Amino acid sequence: MKIILLILLPISVLLTACSEGPESPRGFSLPEGNAEAGKAVLISYQCLACHTLQGVSDNDVEQHVPQKVPLGGDVSTIKTYGELVTSVINPSHKIARGFMREGFTDDTGQSLMRNYNDVMTVNELIDLVAFLQPQYNLKPFNRTNYPQYFP
Ligand code: HEC
Repeated sequence: MKIILLILLPISVLLTACSEGPESPRGFSLPEGNAEAGKAVLISYQCLACHTLQGVSDNDVEQHVPQKVPLGGDVSTIKTYGELVTSVINPSHKIARGFMREGFTDDTGQSLMRNYNDVMTVNELIDLVAFLQPQYNLKPFNRTNYPQYFP
């Protein structure tokens, strides 16, 4: 009994620490945005200089990165608006958590993505995310089928 408590107690402390700490995203909520206006934001901030998005093109922008980063499309986990907001206002966050991909960061490991925090209004951000979120299509996760192993 004591052993079980010794194992369970730290786990429960860890779990509550993760979900309910002052840094938890719980309670984060954006007002409803306007997707049409969001598309205009994407064009006017020239996001397509570094990104591709199916069905949206902009011939006026130059290519900025060696390899464009696709937005939208099939994903195996849904992009929540929290994740999308974070991608725009704190692009290096995900990279800091170990998702570093060759060609997407500078020498210091920071995202090559431009920082818009001083120029983009909160309403523009809300509309942008309202436009981007439905561009992602949740694809069912295909589990690898391993053949049965008989020694
Ligand atoms: C100078 C190039 C550049 C510009 C301009 C740029 N981005 Fe990015 N963006 C990147 C790179 C590189 C990444 C991949 C690394 C990362 O996640 O930061 C990225 C990642 C993202 C992601 C996360 C994608 C994913 O699959 O996780 C989103 C969302 C995004 N950008 C949105 C935007 C929006 C919206 C704009 C315009 C307001 C924009 N970006 C402008 C370079 C850029």
